[in-house]
Amino acid sequence: MTSNVILVTGGGGVGKTTLSAAIGLTAAERGLRTLVLTVDPARRLADALGGAGLGAEPRPNEVVPGLWAAMLDAETSWHNIVRRHAPPDVAARLEENEFFDALATRFPSSQAYAAGEEMMNFLEADTWEVLVVDTPPSAGGIGFFTAPGDMRDLVGGRLIRFLTGSRLPGRKTVYSIAGRPILRLADSVLGSDLLERVAEFLMDLRTTHDGLTKRPTKIERAFKRATTVVVTTAQPTPLREAAQFYRRLPTVATKPATVIFNRTLPEAWVDPPLDPAMSPALRHNLLRWSTEARHQIEAQREFAERYNAPTSSVPWQPVAPTDPDALLAMLKSAQGLDLDGLLSR
Ligand SMILES: Nc1ncnc2c1ncn2[C@@H]1O[C@H](COP(=O)(O)OP(=O)(O)OP(=O)(O)O)[C@@H](O)[C@H]1O
Ligand SMILES: [Mg+2]
Repeated sequence: MTSNVILVTGGGGVGKTTLSAAIGLTAAERGLRTLVLTVDPARRLADALGGAGLGAEPRPNEVVPGLWAAMLDAETSWHNIVRRHAPPDVAARLEENEFFDALATRFPSSQAYAAGEEMMNFLEADTWEVLVVDTPPSAGGIGFFTAPGDMRDLVGGRLIRFLTGSRLPGRKTVYSIAGRPILRLADSVLGSDLLERVAEFLMDLRTTHDGLTKRPTKIERAFKRATTVVVTTAQPTPLREAAQFYRRLPTVATKPATVIFNRTLPEAWVDPPLDPAMSPALRHNLLRWSTEARHQIEAQREFAERYNAPTSSVPWQPVAPTDPDALLAMLKSAQGLDLDGLLSR
């Protein structure tokens, strides 16, 4: 079975998780066996996707046939990653190291990498026809795609080389470096043997080398074949992120992205029916929304023109869409979105 992987990216708070759920539901409704990998969904959305027990393991939805969901959790993923790629004793030492937590939870790249690994595992399970991947907020945009390369660099030794000055240092080298006067001074300032513990951690991570250098390459290949959905709003910050990402996309993917402007206002709001009998407050309100609606249309047109990209829009729903019916209806009301194309690629 070749899965159609749909990667949903974009800036913070633009609607990635909501649209991932809606796309997954739509695919399942069309009879496609679908898995949605979601990141930190709001409570009610999580319930709609997987019931109360949405967790790291995919579970079938009790209400929607053909839909499965799982939650991406970088920390759990990283435990799996080291257990998968390092010998058991080294894996145990890594997991106990204080820097493991930092690696697993604090760096955007490593969170994004963990999501990529999970995606790859589920892709290899060969169980689903459609895999919808919601990307971690910190990695929205290009960070998600460059994370495997970053990981390969880290494990491949750039940082280790930087710290130790040699290509493949042995343990002895690490200790002799840690003994250098300047590092001893650093240790006395930062806390005893801190640098040595960092070095040791990196050395242990180095034993995962084969796994953690081949795997990123596989993940990158899967990214290249995937369909990318870039979600944005007409607000300056997400729009800038979407544009940056769109420009760099050809370096990480082969297919052009689907661009969705989310939470758009109705076009009719551009020309509100202004009645002389209207209260000044209502009139003022309508005119302000008219300005916003015009700005949104302009922003979308400009994006489409500048990047020669077909864009689509998803209307702003009066109530945050969290249940399956509302999510399906939201996507059906999208304008310019080629759902057939998106789900059949
Ligand atoms: N079309 C829409 N109409 C109305 N509300 C929406 C729409 N799309 C998303 N929302 C609401 O906007 C909020 C942010 O959406 P969501 O959590 O999906 O964004 P996100 O990009 O995943 O955010 P984060 O970057 O924090 O993960 C939520 O409250 C969601 O219900
Ligand atoms: Mg989200």
